[in-house]
Amino acid sequence: MNSKSAIGMFDSGVGGLTVVREVTRLLPEEEIIYFGDTARFPYGSQAPSRIVEYSKENATFLLSQGVKALVMACNTCSAHAYELLQESLSLPIVDVIAPGAKKAVAATQSGHVAVLGTSGTISSLAYQKAIEKENPAVRVTAIACPLLAPLVEERLFHHPATELIAAEYLKSILKSDVDTLLLGCTHYPMLQPILQKIVGNSVSIVNSASACAEELVCVLQEKKLARASSGQIAAHRYFVTDDLKKFQDLAQSFLPGIQGEFSLASL
Ligand code: DGL
Repeated sequence: MNSKSAIGMFDSGVGGLTVVREVTRLLPEEEIIYFGDTARFPYGSQAPSRIVEYSKENATFLLSQGVKALVMACNTCSAHAYELLQESLSLPIVDVIAPGAKKAVAATQSGHVAVLGTSGTISSLAYQKAIEKENPAVRVTAIACPLLAPLVEERLFHHPATELIAAEYLKSILKSDVDTLLLGCTHYPMLQPILQKIVGNSVSIVNSASACAEELVCVLQEKKLARASSGQIAAHRYFVTDDLKKFQDLAQSFLPGIQGEFSLASL
C-alpha cells in the first residue's frame, strides 16, 4: 500500500456515509472503500465484546482490499475497539471520538457540552473521558438515544415522530447552560435540522463526522500518504453485508448523486 491506495472506512450501516461526505469534501481525490455491516445493524445496543469482534472483522475485510488507512466511521466501534485495533494493526487509524471531543471542547463557551450517542457509546464513557482529557473543567451531559439511528435508517429525517422522540431525549438540557451539542453517532448529522430546531440557535451543533475528516487530512499528510491532487473526484466502492438495494436508496439521501460501485460482501 502507498499514497495511491484507497482509504478504508466502516460503520454498522449507512451512518458512516456522513463521514464519506466530509472526507470527499476535503479530499476529493482520495479513493474510498466503504464497508457497511448492514446485516448486523444496529451496533449501538450490542455487547462491547461483540462490537470488538465486528470491528476486527470489518477491519480485516478492508485490509484485504489493500487500504492505506482505516477510518472507524462508527462511534460505537470507536468507543469499544479503537485502542485494540490501533495496538494490533500497523496502518494509521482514525476514529470519531477524540476528534469530536476536541472540537466540542474548543466550541463551548459555557463549559457545558451535551453528547448524544448510542447506548453502547454513552455507557462506554468514551466521550466523557475524551472530553475530560481535553479539558477537565468542561462538564458533560451524556444522553443515550437508542431510537435515533434506526429512525435515520428508516429515512424519517424530518418526520414528526422523530422530532417527538428527539425532543424527549433532549428535554433534560433544554433549560440548562449547555451551549454545545456533540453528535456522537455518525447517523445523527442527518437529523441536524430537527435537533437544531429543538435546542434552538443558541446551541452549536458539533459533528464528529467532520471532526474525523479533518483529523484524517492531518494524519495522511503526516504519514506522507496523501494522494497528489489530480483535480478529479476519485471512484468510491461500497460493500454491505445485507440488503444492497436499501443501502443504495439510503445512500442517495445521504449523498445525493452518489456514484460508485456497490456490492454485497460476505465476511
Ligand atoms: N453509526 C453508529 C455510530 O456512530 C451507530 C448506529 C448503530 O447503532 O449501529 O455509533
